Amino acid sequence: MTTVRLNSIDNAVSLDTDALVVGVHTGPDGPHPAPGAEGLDQALGGRLAATLGAMGVKGKPGEVAKVPTFGALTAPLLVVVGLGDAPGGGYEPEALRRAAGTATRALAGTERVALALPAGDARQAGAVALGGLLGAYSFTRYRTDGERTAPVTEITVLSGADGAEAAVEHAVTVAKSVSLVRDLVNTPPSDLWPARFAEIAEQAGSEAGLSVEILDEKALKEGGYGGIVAVGQGSVNPPRLVRLAYSHPEAAKTLAFVGKGITFDSGGLSLKPAASMDWMKSDMGGAGAVLGALVAIAGLSLKVNAVGYLCLAENMPSGTAQRPSDVFTSFAGKTVEVLDTDAEGRLVLIDGIARAAQDNPDVIVDIATLTGAQIVALGWRTAGVMANDDDLRAEVVETAGEQGEGAWGMPLPEELRKGLDSPVADIANLHPERFGGMLTAAIFLREFVPDGVRWAHIDMAGPAFNKGEPHGYTPKGGTGAITRTLVGLAERYAG
Ligand code: BES
Ligand code: MN
Ligand code: ZN
Repeated sequence: MTTVRLNSIDNAVSLDTDALVVGVHTGPDGPHPAPGAEGLDQALGGRLAATLGAMGVKGKPGEVAKVPTFGALTAPLLVVVGLGDAPGGGYEPEALRRAAGTATRALAGTERVALALPAGDARQAGAVALGGLLGAYSFTRYRTDGERTAPVTEITVLSGADGAEAAVEHAVTVAKSVSLVRDLVNTPPSDLWPARFAEIAEQAGSEAGLSVEILDEKALKEGGYGGIVAVGQGSVNPPRLVRLAYSHPEAAKTLAFVGKGITFDSGGLSLKPAASMDWMKSDMGGAGAVLGALVAIAGLSLKVNAVGYLCLAENMPSGTAQRPSDVFTSFAGKTVEVLDTDAEGRLVLIDGIARAAQDNPDVIVDIATLTGAQIVALGWRTAGVMANDDDLRAEVVETAGEQGEGAWGMPLPEELRKGLDSPVADIANLHPERFGGMLTAAIFLREFVPDGVRWAHIDMAGPAFNKGEPHGYTPKGGTGAITRTLVGLAERYAG
């Protein structure tokens, strides 16, 4: 991964680097340089604002322009990123993350990049570092034209703020985890099946100091994990359940995260149409986020206990696949009639949730690319958050907001429960109406949460995978969405 160092803003003019990045604000009289750019503007004869104005630069978020320095600075290239209107109060960390990410993304192929963005306090310095690192991400494993896609190798954050060092270190830990999740999501399903995912989790987990337990298909059958077994039985690549645990001797609280880890979702016998299938390698993004979060929580030595469950299966059609109308007994003991094998995420999650409850956590949060209905309701960038507890739901939404991850609270209307009644089993996995599909999926999950356990569910079908153009620090493909929200939640519950 890209390395990060810190330097003083006083050294910016003479810094030996390939590109220097500054911020620019929109203004009634044209663009004007943001804090961090003053010394550089001076070295350029105070002409930066006028030059940018003449270039047509406005200073809007997402805007980026490259300006040659003609020897006025040691860096040959000055890169300007828009920060929008100058904030009245302090800078929103997310605005800085996005600007830094826009810059490093635009500089792919450049070796050394220095970020002279507003970083007057540790929070801002950390935001600049994190955005810069996340924007520098690239997935080149399957490229034979490596040169063209070479990532930024070194980022220098220019800040003299107290605590900047710790903030940058924090950013590096988080960025490593998000990159791990993005890599997993981007990896083609031919190279990422449940057992392989479990191996990667075991390796990353033990390196981070987590204890790792893997249940294979035999252990899952014997243990009564009927949902994971049912979904996995159609594939030649059998399912796995991975348990990751982190504990701190001074922890007062325990969090449990449960991630949907469908390494490929063909729909099973209820086969998806081709256009909905080609990106279903991303259907393990929830499990990815749980792994990434646990690794980061350990890396940050948070004073909290955290357990993570990765519910891993490949959903395939075959002679051994589950059939629409099959019934299985879940880990919680309830029976489920499978009316649609494409509603498989909820089937693996209920086993993970019921198993997680045995750890007596203070809260359970499950994370899943669960429904297309989430995308219909909230679009590509906003995850839906549902819970059996209003305070917990608000807490999850607020934490996501702090991290700059889109999330919105959604209800669990009681009248939708009846539609999940099955004539043969305790419950059916499909609601006869497709309206409110994100909510009925959550209501199905809620039935498997033991009484008295606080539970929240994050549906991130849209946010997990960026099918559109890159933006801010978000690349095309795997985004690593919600990983940072889970780390943020752990920070809230840490002493
Ligand atoms: N993995 C899909 C949901 C999904 C859709 C994720 C688009 C990311 C992008 C899930 O397993 C699924 O197929 N859900 C069905 C549920 C339906 C059959 C009740 C859906 O949303 O259509
Ligand atoms: Mn599906
Ligand atoms: Zn799925």
